[in-house]
Amino acid sequence: MLQIESCREIQALALKNRRSGRSIALVPTMGFLHEGHLELMRRARQRTDLVIVSIFVNPIQFGPNEDLDSYPRDLEGDLKKCREVGVDLVFTPTPEELYPDNAFQTSVEVEKITRGLCGAGRPGHFKGVTTVVSKLFNLTLPDYAFFGEKDYQQLAVIRRMTADLNFPIEIVGVPIIREEDGLALSSRNAYLNEQERREAPAIHQALSRVAGLFHQGVSDSEKLVREAADHIRQQITSPCEIEYIKICQADDLEEINGEITGPAVILTAVRLGRTRLIDNLQL
Ligand code: PAJ
Repeated sequence: MLQIESCREIQALALKNRRSGRSIALVPTMGFLHEGHLELMRRARQRTDLVIVSIFVNPIQFGPNEDLDSYPRDLEGDLKKCREVGVDLVFTPTPEELYPDNAFQTSVEVEKITRGLCGAGRPGHFKGVTTVVSKLFNLTLPDYAFFGEKDYQQLAVIRRMTADLNFPIEIVGVPIIREEDGLALSSRNAYLNEQERREAPAIHQALSRVAGLFHQGVSDSEKLVREAADHIRQQITSPCEIEYIKICQADDLEEINGEITGPAVILTAVRLGRTRLIDNLQL
């Protein structure tokens, strides 16, 4: 497995592989890898000749009061995991390599679909994501790029950007990997204290209850959202704030207020102590 830090080098290598007819998969990550990330890599491994994983804690997608400085990192551990899954190439640029001082002026911004949900509470976040992912696409020239449904809005935003900008890349969505008690795996779970960790599965339980009610015929989104919020408030006694719970159309994430008539997804962001957790479930 090769580790590369330089933009020039990775792009040259990607180009050489594309020219020799080998297919390329990209799995973008911010590191501190867990089974969720590894699942994306395994699927990429099955699908393509060359699997590239990027590990980069992207400063421009963090807000001024967010956890950029404390974001968990473990490059040695991450490289070992990548090697075990059979990754070919790990791209680990420095912030200066991707955003050279004084020079960088360009960004990629997707409009409507980034405004609600996480976009409302994290202004500028998705602009940071789409800018770095565009750069990674141009640097690694992938045929396929793998993203988790855990970040459902991010996946929808990347699909929109890829279609709008005609990137010749197939975006592959991968289902959420969870702990046995239902908590969605996340690098940020490392922030939870013991009690918060014990209570955090209530978030997934709340969404599952809603899915159950929906399948029993309850189709009023407002009632379902109330049920989910009540469950979280009843089950979690640690300091906890529900940032949003919404039921949206599965493709364009337009909010549904009232009767659910087509494919829908319930999405939530909950602040548990100092940890912001997101989860979703397709109904
Ligand atoms: P990060 O949070 O490290 O996640 C990298 C990829 O792993 C994302 O596509 C995310 O959806 C996926 N993932 C995380 N937890 C998962 C889980 N439990 N099950 C399935 N997939 C999971 O998302 C980012 O980094 C960044 O925004 C990035 C796209 C790399 C741009 O900087």
